Amino acid sequence: MRIAATYFRTGLSGDGRLQETAMTLNEDFTPMRWEDGRFLLLDQTLLPAEEVWIDCASTEIVADAIRRLAVRGAPAIGVAAAFGLVIASPEGNLEKILEAADFLETTRPTAVNLQWALDLGRELAQRDFATDAERAAAVLAWAQELHADDIETNRRMGENGAALFQQGDRVVTHCNAGGLATGGFGTAVGVIRAAHARGGLGMVWVDETRPLLQGARLTSWELGKLDIPHRLVTDSSIGAIVSRDLVDRVVVGADRIAANGDVANKIGTYTVAVLAHRHGVPFYVAAPLSTIDRHTPSGQDIPIEERDGNEVTHLGGQAVAPAGTEGMNFAFDVTPAELVAAIITEEGVLEPPFDESIAAAFARAGR
Ligand code: MRU
Repeated sequence: MRIAATYFRTGLSGDGRLQETAMTLNEDFTPMRWEDGRFLLLDQTLLPAEEVWIDCASTEIVADAIRRLAVRGAPAIGVAAAFGLVIASPEGNLEKILEAADFLETTRPTAVNLQWALDLGRELAQRDFATDAERAAAVLAWAQELHADDIETNRRMGENGAALFQQGDRVVTHCNAGGLATGGFGTAVGVIRAAHARGGLGMVWVDETRPLLQGARLTSWELGKLDIPHRLVTDSSIGAIVSRDLVDRVVVGADRIAANGDVANKIGTYTVAVLAHRHGVPFYVAAPLSTIDRHTPSGQDIPIEERDGNEVTHLGGQAVAPAGTEGMNFAFDVTPAELVAAIITEEGVLEPPFDESIAAAFARAGR
């Protein structure tokens, strides 16, 4: 079921109610914005064919957008959920805000940024405000700050990570960890952007990322607009590309990193990590501290989302398997810490042993 929302179209059609210029994506590929008291989300399920923005007039619309991946990527989900709390009660009613937090938390289980943002929102909303209006203003200011901080965090992460790269490097990335997956700028793609700006990368190999093609649809789209050399390959090509000595580094994002450095990320990441390890190619994970869950000891404890099997049996709405075939659809897999060369964060590049470097990074950040 799709929750009713008003959609604004941009691009060639230009028939939206908002100014076309006001809806154009910025160079950070920021997929959400707060504008004139409205929360707008770019519908990523329609990219790259159409740029359509959803007017999220209710928490239900935000939740629906998260569930069906109109907004996706761990940091982006967290920021969108924060605005979901703003919309839940423009008048600042505590009960409605807390109810919305519980509801939004049910949308997707793996990306810890969702819980992280909602816990911060709950804590803030329950502070002692003289009036509900003050609470509403504080929640809005917090959501906007969370959004701005995420972009700033990604820029710092980009600079930290770029130092690991050399001119002409050929890089594999999986899924989309670009601006679209965050408040803006991107994590893994942010590192790729910063590395390319410094020295010029030789090639970015983008794998398709079946079943929902975040690599093909979204990462290729971002890299194309950024003029970063890239080629799209099938997920099953990675072994051939790595073994032909066409890859110098791998950099991916994360949905949740356990306290020991195990990494949950889009299904297929583990395969890339094993291949990189087999061929001596460094495998990096770029993620903000908000993606590291110190309450989850290891990857085995990370809840892995299972999505509808139809996403596997169908492609772009068309069946690719005989009627009646049942799909199995793990949305994420876990890469053990031993395959990860470094975790790139806004607090620096963390190296093994990760339990120690993670704890030190949180201490540096005063968290
Ligand atoms: O199912 P998705 O598209 O939300 O999965 C996204 C990923 O796996 C990303 O790699 C991860 O969230 C990091 S985004 C900066």
